[in-house]
Amino acid sequence: MNTLLKLKKINLKYQTGKDNINVLKNIDLTIKKKETVSVVGESGSGKTSLIMLIGGLERPTSGKIIFQDREITNLNEDEVSEIRRQDIGIIFQSFYLIPNYTAVENVALTLELNEFKNPEKEAKSLLDRFGLKHRFNNLPSQLSGGEQQRVAIARAIAMKPDLILADEPTGNLDTENSIMISEILFKYVKEEGSSLIIVTHDPKLADKAKRKIKIKDGKIK
Ligand SMILES: Nc1ncnc2c1ncn2[C@@H]1O[C@H](COP(=O)(O)OP(=O)(O)O)[C@@H](O)[C@H]1O
Ligand SMILES: [Mg+2]
Repeated sequence: MNTLLKLKKINLKYQTGKDNINVLKNIDLTIKKKETVSVVGESGSGKTSLIMLIGGLERPTSGKIIFQDREITNLNEDEVSEIRRQDIGIIFQSFYLIPNYTAVENVALTLELNEFKNPEKEAKSLLDRFGLKHRFNNLPSQLSGGEQQRVAIARAIAMKPDLILADEPTGNLDTENSIMISEILFKYVKEEGSSLIIVTHDPKLADKAKRKIKIKDGKIK
């Protein structure tokens, strides 16, 4: 089967006080293996919510999400976490690195948690691949925004996930660093054959994906 991910009639409602907001409405979406998809849409249209659902960080109000032939909407928290650790890498706009861990330690931790044999060696090899050989032992506070995001990407892809989710990964970066990050990401997915879903406001970045989807009023246009 060539399908990696399927969303079937997904609805997401948030309850805030008395108000019930319908963030995503009847979303049907299929992502193929090795496919790159960009998600665009106005602020507040539900892009982050979509990423959270696919990453198993949020549960839909109704509908089904099927990832690698498993219905993740039926799994318990532990089973979903397991999938997220092994098969889905998530990159956010904020880097969320561990402040008192070096670049190498931030990446190695993920590998250690997954009982990888040589976490430090593998972390170094990934960081080297992203041009950070001279920054192995620096703390996040000693790195530029672009460097921090490269560490965050290395951490997200350390387990070679089949799916990479990126929510405005260049949103906090200047043009030069945005270009570098987008090149790194697209080069990586091409080389490794992962699928990528990337949310972005940057039209140039969105155009790098094979398919572009737009969310408006909680629906895919
Ligand atoms: N945890 C939450 N509780 C209540 N409302 C939320 C929550 N998260 C997001 N929302 C609301 O859902 C809508 C979509 O948010 P979001 O998915 O973050 O949009 P986008 O990423 O496209 O800007 C917004 O109106 C937002 O205020
Ligand atoms: Mg968002």
